[in-house]
Amino acid sequence: MSARSHTAVAGLAPDAERDIETKGESGAPPTHVAIIMDGNGRWAASRGLPRVAGHREGARAVRRAIEAAIEQGVGWLTLYAFSSENWRRPASEILDLTGLLRHYLRTEIAELRANGVRLRVIGDRDRFDPDIRTELLAAERSTAANTRLNLTIALSYGGRDEILAAARVLAAAARDGRLDPAVMEETDFTRGLFTAGMPDPDLVIRTSGEQRLSNFLLWQSAYAELVFQDVLWPDFGAAHLADALAEFARRERRFGARPG
Ligand code: IPE
Ligand code: IPE
Ligand code: MG
Repeated sequence: MSARSHTAVAGLAPDAERDIETKGESGAPPTHVAIIMDGNGRWAASRGLPRVAGHREGARAVRRAIEAAIEQGVGWLTLYAFSSENWRRPASEILDLTGLLRHYLRTEIAELRANGVRLRVIGDRDRFDPDIRTELLAAERSTAANTRLNLTIALSYGGRDEILAAARVLAAAARDGRLDPAVMEETDFTRGLFTAGMPDPDLVIRTSGEQRLSNFLLWQSAYAELVFQDVLWPDFGAAHLADALAEFARRERRFGARPG
């Protein structure tokens, strides 16, 4: 809640202050929007094209989503591009996807930099080839000073893997006597997540009509509003983002604090 303390009004009793904060929150636009970009394969199949054509068109939709996020005032945008389970796909599709990622990094980073976008990558990047890892690191470093949009791409990302990794770090600290499990707090845990230092998503959008999280930001989405859209990712554009933001604005967020 401290992140929202700017809405507090000086001089009011704490309870009244909290009331104003809560009211401000339900109408506030989302700070962080996360998108599960699904439906590339079905987009291609519906046109009689190979799946790679859907992934290629999906990369164009990524560009549109980033532009739309900037135009629509979204400060944090996280895109689920490749899950830890997606490595189970046929080798030919993995090759197509990593090839597209390589191409994307080589062609888009200059534009991201010019548009004030800061890029972060979350996920198990060690599973990618060394040249891709090098490009990812270079892209993060060269955009690190940008502040217009915080763009995070989830690559080889799995929510359970992430939680397990954080638990391992804490278990080791406890074993070595550096952490007392009895006084361990949420922040001790979240520091070990890939998203350390990032706000939790307020809104999670999934395209393609599927209604599941597929291992995306499991810890972080505890109180996210979920919006499922019947659009295949390659067809996603500014209007879809605007629709999702409008839907978000109609939701009443309670965080468990109030009965209806
Ligand atoms: C999303 O599209 C992209 C990735 C998961 C890499 P899909 O490839 O899952 O497309 P569908 O779900 O088969 O249509
Ligand atoms: C989730 O989509 C992962 C991404 C969009 C990157 P999937 O297509 O892999 O998810 P499932 O298999 O339908 O749950
Ligand atoms: Mg899919």
